Amino acid sequence: MTEKPLRILHFSDIHINIQIRHMHWKKWFSKRAVGAINLLRGRSKYFDDAEIKMEAMVRFKEENDIDLVINTGDYTALGLEQELVIARELMDPMMYPPQNYVTVPGNHDIYVHEGDSHYRFSRLFCSVLQNDLPEYCRGGHWPLVRLVGDNAAIIALNSARPNLLPWKSDGTIPDEQLEAFEEILKDERLAGRFIFVLTHYAPRLANGHNDKKLHGLNNVEAFLQACKPIQSGAILCGHIHKTYRVRTHGVKSEIFCAGSATMEGHEGAWLFELQRDQLEATPIRWDGEKYYLKQ
Ligand SMILES: [Fe+2]
Ligand SMILES: [Fe+2]
Repeated sequence: MTEKPLRILHFSDIHINIQIRHMHWKKWFSKRAVGAINLLRGRSKYFDDAEIKMEAMVRFKEENDIDLVINTGDYTALGLEQELVIARELMDPMMYPPQNYVTVPGNHDIYVHEGDSHYRFSRLFCSVLQNDLPEYCRGGHWPLVRLVGDNAAIIALNSARPNLLPWKSDGTIPDEQLEAFEEILKDERLAGRFIFVLTHYAPRLANGHNDKKLHGLNNVEAFLQACKPIQSGAILCGHIHKTYRVRTHGVKSEIFCAGSATMEGHEGAWLFELQRDQLEATPIRWDGEKYYLKQ
């Protein structure tokens, strides 16, 4: 008898903003007026239906027999308390049992530089931040390790940090986390497991190139170097609002970017099925009402 594969839903960058609960203003205006207002609203307008889409994501999760949910951050637009509370509420049905939900914050989740922005994310998402190997923690919850059954493990690295300048949205995995990551990979409790490495920032773009300096992962080469010992694994990220997979020279693990699950016109995510050490990945798309598998 063949075992059931482990089914993983990976999505990212839902970018909840505080206006989504007040969208009824739209019905008081003509289409043209809404268009004009949206011009002034900038990027946030692309995420107006994020709440409806997350309700659909919950249905997708239930209908597709998902064992584990992975979210690679950017839950919010500005990291405001209210936005994080709404995001946490929308994720709630996917967070049971909590060990089957793994996440990292995105740069937008710690956007507001108030000193406690990391703390705010940790406080609201603490139920899903438990660590199976806490002895490797180097600062807060990171790296966060989750052992999944006998076959898989997840290592989540936090690369997000507040950027003081509004035109900067780059990130870094602190050296202490990278050092701990290298040690974790040698831990015999991970031997023979398929390793999913999670971080918010994309190590490579869809074309295999690096992201721009002010938008990318600053220590990307050190990170990819640290991933090289992984014989059987995958690197999962978000931050780039486009769903893609890409390989990079010298690293056996393929890179999967979830893109944004909610950005109008770009909605995407991944479904992974892991059978022993064989990973199958199927893109998920949005048809205006529901998420579906693009076979
Ligand atoms: Fe994002
Ligand atoms: Fe981001």
